[in-house]
Amino acid sequence: MDNNNFDDSKSTRTSSSMSGETTVYSSMDGTPAPSLYSYHSSDGTAMLRDVAGRVLNAKNDLYLLPADEGEHSRLDKQHLVNLLAMGRLYIAEHEVQEALAPTTERTKMVLDLGTGGGNWAIGMALEFPHSQVIGVDLAPSTLRPPPPNCRFEFDDFTLGLEHYYSTFDVVHSRSVANGVKDFEWFINEAAKCVRPGGVLLITEGNLEMQNENKVGIEPAFGEGGPGQSWLARACFEAYNSMKLRGSAVDSGTLLERWFRACPEVEDVKYTEIYVPIGPWERGRTPEETQKKELIGTLMRQNMKEFVRSCRPMLTTSGYPPTLLDRFVRETDRELDELKLHMYVKWHHACGRRIAAPEQSFSDYENDNDVDMS
Ligand SMILES: C[S@@+](CC[C@H](N)C(=O)[O-])C[C@H]1O[C@@H](n2cnc3c(N)ncnc32)[C@H](O)[C@@H]1O
Repeated sequence: MDNNNFDDSKSTRTSSSMSGETTVYSSMDGTPAPSLYSYHSSDGTAMLRDVAGRVLNAKNDLYLLPADEGEHSRLDKQHLVNLLAMGRLYIAEHEVQEALAPTTERTKMVLDLGTGGGNWAIGMALEFPHSQVIGVDLAPSTLRPPPPNCRFEFDDFTLGLEHYYSTFDVVHSRSVANGVKDFEWFINEAAKCVRPGGVLLITEGNLEMQNENKVGIEPAFGEGGPGQSWLARACFEAYNSMKLRGSAVDSGTLLERWFRACPEVEDVKYTEIYVPIGPWERGRTPEETQKKELIGTLMRQNMKEFVRSCRPMLTTSGYPPTLLDRFVRETDRELDELKLHMYVKWHHACGRRIAAPEQSFSDYENDNDVDMS
């Protein structure tokens, strides 16, 4: 949100929320609290603007992908792809389930930064009904209301997350690097929102399309040539446009290194998953092949729609309409013909928030300025 809408002090800064018609809840404990910027679900358009025929968030010039129904429907497909490819909503099954095991002491808390249409947040709220899930985004979701233990707040998380420090048992973000300038800072900031012993999960996709040998595919220029791809070209131009604007869109490649360097997390796990674009990949059994075909079909739809979603951003960057039309046309043809077999590479990292250090006697002495003489 706009900086001016907030009291930036740690204890009172709240985000606007769509959890109810008139009430905004404080971030810390779920109790009703006055907000400096609240709105009714019907006036969410205040956060949106039209660019090149699509609806975008109105508050952040770095993130120029749409925030409309079409985009949230695309993200739902991408969510299903990840869900099927990973087998669940998160890597580190044991750590996440342990962190969210019910306890009589308090409600377990989950935070999803850059929640988009809220698909992951809603999935977690349904899987862990005793927990409270908060999804934060620049713009409201247009598709569905959240279950009672899930709510959305609207904020630009790059303005700082002090109001959330040490609050959540699990903190997650996926595909948000396009809205972040300094992703290493973001990892550290997100980690500080996790309670000691809790889990941080970050996933980023890679805009360099990969061939069957898992090597970057050459983008098509001019008339295109054998082995060149128009989808790879459209993604390459999207990447250039995001990078020129200052986005850390390529952060997936450094995710593992930054997690290991983060002083707030330990027990780091990292994995890469290659997702086929289109139903071309075969498994070892008919069931496995069917699953790969389903994943590939959803990913093909997602990528066709992604090229269309880039139009407002690429228009703003000065790309001519004829070239953008060509990206759409040639990508559709390429992904229908499936002569080129391509993958999208996903980077997944997780870590556990370091336990709070035991206070030593000398810390106590310093903190309380005790005179021992
Ligand atoms: C590609 S979408 C991914 C949405 C969701 N995480 C998913 O995987 O379906 C990225 C989302 O991050 C949000 N976002 C990007 N930068 C942000 C920021 N600085 N603060 C809050 N939300 C941000 C965007 O508004 C968008 O909804």
